[in-house]
Amino acid sequence: KKVVLAYSGGLDTSVILRWLQTEYNAEVVTFTADLGQGEELEPARRKAEMFGVKEIFVEDLRETFTKDFVFPMFRANALYEGQYLLGTSIARPLIAQRQIEIAELVGADAVAHGATGKGNDQVRFELAYYALKPDVRVIAPWREWDLTSRTRLLEFAEAHQIPIAKDKRGEAPFSVDANLLHSSSEGKLLEDPAEEPDEIVYQRTISPEAAPDVATVISIGFAQGDAVSINGETLSPATLLTRLNALGRDNGIGRLDLVENRFVGMKSRGVYETPGGTILLAAHRAIESITLDREAAHLKDSIMPRYAELIYNGFWFSPERHMLQALIDTSQHSVTGTVRLKLYKGNVIVIGRDSPHSLYSARMVTFEDDQGAYNQQDAAGFIKLNALRLRLGAAVGRRGGAL
Ligand code: ARG
Ligand code: SIN
Repeated sequence: KKVVLAYSGGLDTSVILRWLQTEYNAEVVTFTADLGQGEELEPARRKAEMFGVKEIFVEDLRETFTKDFVFPMFRANALYEGQYLLGTSIARPLIAQRQIEIAELVGADAVAHGATGKGNDQVRFELAYYALKPDVRVIAPWREWDLTSRTRLLEFAEAHQIPIAKDKRGEAPFSVDANLLHSSSEGKLLEDPAEEPDEIVYQRTISPEAAPDVATVISIGFAQGDAVSINGETLSPATLLTRLNALGRDNGIGRLDLVENRFVGMKSRGVYETPGGTILLAAHRAIESITLDREAAHLKDSIMPRYAELIYNGFWFSPERHMLQALIDTSQHSVTGTVRLKLYKGNVIVIGRDSPHSLYSARMVTFEDDQGAYNQQDAAGFIKLNALRLRLGAAVGRRGGAL
């Protein structure tokens, strides 16, 4: 039996690795991806070697992650429940996709992940596995084993000579998932949603209070809906997001403390940091504001919550996501130009936008003489006909729109 495990090198997935070897008698193949989580990957390779793993995959997927997952999602301005930028949700399908590709490469019939049976991530991993390899065998150790407490997990680790970092001896203070787009912290310290998170929870932003008293002004260039440059310098997707993260970090931008509805039904409190993504969303909306037709903009906005929800729920590889993506991508043909922004103490303030495809007409909108661009008399009939049904209603006693 051969299993491809999504392996971070941390304590939990190390226990999973050993458990698969000892309890499942499986030959484990490890896959460790750099998605911009800011951790060294070589220790994960060395650990896998230590466990006797023969096929070890360690890959830098930062560009693919940003270009093929983050950017398409940002074209939609996707926000789950009005606030969450989906940093974890969008990474899972990529990890799952590579796991399946590797399974096919090494002739494995099973894949395994380290997500618990309570969360969204198990759903996202497994829906992607099944969409890409319908006959795959899925092993989710957290749903199967009897290591149901931290203590038992640590006992298993000790019994199997798995190194435990000193700070992991006690209860880990909270659970973290990180990549180039965001860091997410959940659980333990954070489980009471009435309590403000301790400052130690934040790992990739300084606090707005500690941010400089002087604003940072930047410009972001867009081509067909995707950010392509900062301050006139053309950058690859991952490099650009990395730069925006640094700018966001230094200005205290992108912190979010929320209670969200998980797909499995429970509510969960999370603390997110999405510094670059928060800047990117504001900038993308600004460039769309001058380049998109009103109805095109409103139509894509109307499907946005649906699109965000399906990414949150793990349906990246689904017909409905492809259909909505096609609609969103089509809308972006003229979303090209430059946005200027001020970053200041946790705020992203748009101060200018400019495009060769701008639909904004100063001559049309001016309060001064428009030299015949617009005939104000046209508006009278426009309003009269829109009012017709309201007047018919009011005339039979249904005043003010009463039913
Ligand atoms: N609640 C977020 C989501 O479902 C993050 C989940 C993973 N985060 C974590 N700290 N384990 O996308
Ligand atoms: C987990 O349960 O593994 C993390 C939280 C989630 O997936 O929602």
